Amino acid sequence: MHLLTLPPATLLTLLLPSALASVLPPATVAPSAKPLPLLIWHGLGDRYDAEGLRSVGTLAQKVHPGTYVKFIKLDDDGGNDRTATFFGNVSAQIETVCEELRHDPQLASVGGGSTGVGEMRVDALGFSQGGQFLRALLQRCDGLSMRALVTFGSQHNGIAQFQLCGAYDFVCKGAAALIKNNAWSDGVQGRVVPAQYYRTVNESTGLGSEAYLAGSRFLADVNNERVVKNEGYAAKVASLDKLVLFVFGEDQTVIPKESGWFAEVNATSEEVTPLRNRTMYHEDWIGLKKLDERGGLVFKTAPGKHMELEEKLLAETFGVYFGPERVAQGGMMDGLVVQGGDGGS
Ligand SMILES: *[C@@H]1O[C@H](CO)[C@@H](O)[C@H](O)[C@H]1NC(C)=O
Ligand SMILES: *[C@@H]1O[C@H](CO)[C@@H](O)[C@H](O)[C@H]1NC(C)=O
Ligand SMILES: *[C@@H]1O[C@H](CO)[C@@H](O)[C@H](O)[C@H]1NC(C)=O
Ligand SMILES: *[C@@H]1O[C@H](CO)[C@@H](O)[C@H](O)[C@H]1NC(C)=O
Repeated sequence: MHLLTLPPATLLTLLLPSALASVLPPATVAPSAKPLPLLIWHGLGDRYDAEGLRSVGTLAQKVHPGTYVKFIKLDDDGGNDRTATFFGNVSAQIETVCEELRHDPQLASVGGGSTGVGEMRVDALGFSQGGQFLRALLQRCDGLSMRALVTFGSQHNGIAQFQLCGAYDFVCKGAAALIKNNAWSDGVQGRVVPAQYYRTVNESTGLGSEAYLAGSRFLADVNNERVVKNEGYAAKVASLDKLVLFVFGEDQTVIPKESGWFAEVNATSEEVTPLRNRTMYHEDWIGLKKLDERGGLVFKTAPGKHMELEEKLLAETFGVYFGPERVAQGGMMDGLVVQGGDGGS
């Protein structure tokens, strides 16, 4: 299993000045504007206080000084937070996180987006399962507004198989054993995290299988795959400025890896049906088509295996998608002219 294992000591020292210069925010940003807060949700088997994850937060602050970084956690104890990546009710976990955000004064105070008082306006960065959980958080947490959501190696369209566990990772093995026995039972769906985004397909219809649609307590709901749709979900996803989906080119952990792009992979023929060819897109179950038509949906490939992150790619991504709100071109140009001192005559 590949976790977030960036060598923390090298992460920042290797960030050459030239690399940083190339990711400086575009000129349409007011120099004084405060960056949006950044939520970071780690992946399976990782913990909120891990050094590698912390250095990602530090990098985000280096690219956009003053960024308030919030590491999503389900327990103050890092070990328990890691266990909660394997065991727990994902819907309940998302409710807990939503409540915690609401009680964070640093998020409330930087509100003031277009939808009114008390809005929490953030950027978000999700690693592996943290990616689909952040998307679900956006869909379900009232008052939360996201500008950019960037996910790396996530399982937006679920997994067809549970990943291999490390030889001595008994928490992981325990979860795997339960999924193998009966993934769709209430006991497993209410308790084993990866089971809640496990997904099987009906080979003749190409849609989610009957067992999945009946049993999945998390993914079938947040992907609006059932007959009765939650309209609010589509509105929330379509409200994003950008949804940036990175798939690791050599990913062998996420099966299939194209899940990170919302693609469907035929388990028998391995044929990949891209999102834009799927019913969930054409009928716009969760707002992805609307977002795509506005140019808000970005498909990207990251080199390497699952969670083999490069700081240069991260820094570039943070530079482009995070930081202060970008103001409409016209207004900002005026501002910059005045600041440059050659606006008067
Ligand atoms: C999981 O938590 C949600 C939200 O608290 C709750 O509605 C649901 O019944 C729980 N599911 C199971 C299977 O326990
Ligand atoms: C697949 O879908 C078809 C058409 O809805 C249905 O008749 C069939 O029973 C499904 N197959 C399985 C294995 O559930
Ligand atoms: C998946 O591939 C198999 C084998 O080629 C094929 O028989 C089946 O119809 C495909 N399923 C879908 C939904 O396209
Ligand atoms: C996707 O749909 C387009 C237009 O209908 C079609 O030309 C293309 O072959 C499809 N691609 C795949 C991989 O299904």
